[in-house]
Amino acid sequence: MLLSFFTSSSLFFSSAHVSVRPIVGSSNITGNTTNTSSIQWGPCDPSLVADPSLTCGFFEIPLDYHDSSAGKGRLAVIKANATGDRRGTFFVNPGGPGVSGLQALDETSELPRAQVGGGYDIVSWDPRGVGTLTIPAGNMACFEDDVEYNAFWQGTVELSGIDATGNFTDPSETDALLAQADVMQQKYSELGVRCQQHSSGRYLKYMGTAATVRDLLALTDALDGSGAPVNYLGLSYGTIIGSWLINLFPERVGRVIIDGVVDPNVFHTPAGFLGWPAQLPNTDDVYKGLVTGCALAGPDGCALASTGDGPLDINDHIQDIFNAAHSAEAANASSPITPGIVRTQLFWPAIYVPSTWSNLTNETLPQVAQQLNSTSLGTGNVTKRFDLMRRSLMKRAETSSVSYTTQAILCGDAPDRTANNTVTMKDVFDTVINTTHNVSHMCTCLPLHLESSPLTVGAIWPHPVYYCAFWPERAIERHMGPFNKTLASRIPVIGNTYDPITPFVGAKTVAEGLGDSATLVRMNGFGHTSQAAAGQSACINNIMRAYLVNNALPEGNDTVCEVDDSFELYPGVSTSQILANMPNTGI
Ligand SMILES: *[C@@H]1O[C@H](CO)[C@@H](O)[C@H](O)[C@H]1NC(C)=O
Ligand SMILES: *[C@@H]1O[C@H](CO)[C@@H](O)[C@H](O)[C@H]1NC(C)=O
Ligand SMILES: *[C@@H]1O[C@H](CO)[C@@H](O)[C@H](O)[C@H]1NC(C)=O
Ligand SMILES: *[C@@H]1O[C@H](CO)[C@@H](O)[C@H](O)[C@H]1NC(C)=O
Ligand SMILES: *[C@@H]1O[C@H](CO)[C@@H](O)[C@H](O)[C@H]1NC(C)=O
Ligand SMILES: *[C@@H]1O[C@H](CO)[C@@H](O)[C@H](O)[C@H]1NC(C)=O
Ligand SMILES: *[C@@H]1O[C@H](CO)[C@@H](O)[C@H](O)[C@H]1NC(C)=O
Ligand SMILES: *[C@@H]1O[C@H](CO)[C@@H](O)[C@H](O)[C@H]1NC(C)=O
Ligand SMILES: *[C@@H]1O[C@H](CO)[C@@H](O)[C@H](O)[C@H]1NC(C)=O
Ligand SMILES: *[C@@H]1O[C@H](CO)[C@@H](O)[C@H](O)[C@H]1NC(C)=O
Ligand SMILES: *[C@@H]1O[C@H](CO)[C@@H](O)[C@H](O)[C@H]1NC(C)=O
Ligand SMILES: *[C@@H]1O[C@H](CO)[C@@H](O)[C@H](O)[C@H]1NC(C)=O
Repeated sequence: MLLSFFTSSSLFFSSAHVSVRPIVGSSNITGNTTNTSSIQWGPCDPSLVADPSLTCGFFEIPLDYHDSSAGKGRLAVIKANATGDRRGTFFVNPGGPGVSGLQALDETSELPRAQVGGGYDIVSWDPRGVGTLTIPAGNMACFEDDVEYNAFWQGTVELSGIDATGNFTDPSETDALLAQADVMQQKYSELGVRCQQHSSGRYLKYMGTAATVRDLLALTDALDGSGAPVNYLGLSYGTIIGSWLINLFPERVGRVIIDGVVDPNVFHTPAGFLGWPAQLPNTDDVYKGLVTGCALAGPDGCALASTGDGPLDINDHIQDIFNAAHSAEAANASSPITPGIVRTQLFWPAIYVPSTWSNLTNETLPQVAQQLNSTSLGTGNVTKRFDLMRRSLMKRAETSSVSYTTQAILCGDAPDRTANNTVTMKDVFDTVINTTHNVSHMCTCLPLHLESSPLTVGAIWPHPVYYCAFWPERAIERHMGPFNKTLASRIPVIGNTYDPITPFVGAKTVAEGLGDSATLVRMNGFGHTSQAAAGQSACINNIMRAYLVNNALPEGNDTVCEVDDSFELYPGVSTSQILANMPNTGI
């Protein structure tokens, strides 16, 4: 999927307040992660990786680094060879959890190559539970097939999604959602048992961020020598891997960059199950940027705009589309264009990836408006596309089986369910409603999870984090902080002014925790991670290059990087112009 290197998903989380086997400090556990496994590099599987310049291999891992009797797994690994004098390996994790590193590097190896320079092999991998080649593989199943899946969830919000008009101002919509709380809580509890009992259930406890950190150390030992410094770029959820890595093994820190930062402390409480709103304080600001840019572009550059429209007018046009979609659905329950699906398009890719704003507002939304307004709903391409998404919501495509990998990783890392932790599904629904009212009017009722297939994107409900209060299994190791270690060398911590899903405050908090070991860098732009500027911030590129080549970082914590004016969000409209014209209120 376009630009999915950095479109990872929403997500994140957690640490534990009680750990089955807490990791304590920087134990020298690497002594036995240097297993004898090595990687035989060869061509990649062409059905998965199209770029012939990339090389692939497998790396054997113990399922449990403390208990060899648990058996073995393997990681699928991918590499873009260094082009100059090789200084070592630079690892990349694109986020998720659940996004395939193989797919991410295949889709956009150019950007990391340009930013990292030629001096490193760039290596990514499918972590435990991700992709089809790694073992345990990414098909963590809890149902035998889609028939069983559909039967289990029949008639619930799990299949229909939450399709409120907008922001739960209509009490009947709120009531309809809350009325499902009891049955959904029971379903989620039953689901957990099914997952444990399924044949892939035995892997659940071997997945999670701590195991992935150990795998990353072992990969470094194998590729760069035992005990070598770890060089790593973590994006989005990959910043959680980064935070755990640098705080568990501070002496192994080489060149580490975290970008689009999730605060690892946020979910470090029993209320972590409800921590989703903490990710959304800037989501509506990104939306404001989108409508402001459209207004600045005017009708010539943004078909949604009429002459003289300001940002709030563009917002009105978009709200009209939501309302029209709602009316269409009210008139015909099988209308393919539901407000939830329109909203989903808006959230992803648009809100995540500003380079898609122009397409959305110039093409997709005007076509939607036109088709909703025509009597022949159901003929256009957009209608067909949305109908496909709609049907995938109502009934999973026959060919895809439902994977619970993301839940297994997120919930495996999550706080324990204890007697004290009495989060109910009603609490979860209340959080969704409250967040929509108080944090993000636009986007919160669609905390969707983004997987590689666009057909699974439509699930407005559920979001993986909401399973965790009812999920029965935890990873054998979890890290509960603190996140304030002194590192072997200083690292850059990068956040955007307006990131829809990993707000700048996450980067700020993590950098503050690390004190002198970190330098905070803010990219003054929109979208998810600094990669959302598609490499067009010379300032960010220069910082990365100077760091990776000379280990040089800016002093202080107030470095601000602008996005280059050459990066046009609409024809002739740059980030700085939008920032200068954002409305203060009204959305
Ligand atoms: C880890 O190893 C280093 C050097 O090998 C040693 O200085 C340090 O004390 C060890 N740490 C622990 C916790 O054993
Ligand atoms: C990259 O390096 C590996 C050895 O590590 C080699 O087998 C492979 O052919 C190289 N790939 C390219 C495209 O040069
Ligand atoms: C790792 O080393 C520890 C002690 O050094 C040992 O107890 C443990 O069995 C080893 N684990 C594996 C998987 O070899
Ligand atoms: C916007 O769409 C119209 C047709 O719908 C097209 O003529 C125009 O070139 C597009 N503009 C941009 C900037 O893509
Ligand atoms: C915009 O849409 C065109 C045609 O639909 C597509 O080829 C192009 O890749 C899209 N651009 C972005 C940035 O999504
Ligand atoms: C809907 O159709 C009517 C009549 O055909 C037209 O006046 C109106 O501008 C259209 N609205 C949109 C949003 O296309
Ligand atoms: C629908 O899509 C097809 C190709 O996918 C294209 O040829 C056609 O022009 C599109 N129709 C409209 C109305 O956009
Ligand atoms: C859990 O609750 C019990 C009694 O209600 C209390 O004694 C205990 O300290 C609590 N534990 C935590 C971790 O809050
Ligand atoms: C609703 O959300 C706001 C903003 O996040 C928060 O301050 C408030 O405590 C929440 N209220 C409830 C009842 O959860
Ligand atoms: C809901 O959205 C409407 C417009 O879309 C807005 O006027 C209203 O203030 C919002 N209400 C809440 C509670 O967010
Ligand atoms: C790190 O945080 C812990 C827990 O908040 C605290 O006890 C400790 O003093 C802190 N260490 C440093 C070096 O700030
Ligand atoms: C960044 O701020 C922290 C405190 O928040 C401070 O300890 C640290 O020295 C600062 N870093 C630099 C490079 O100035």
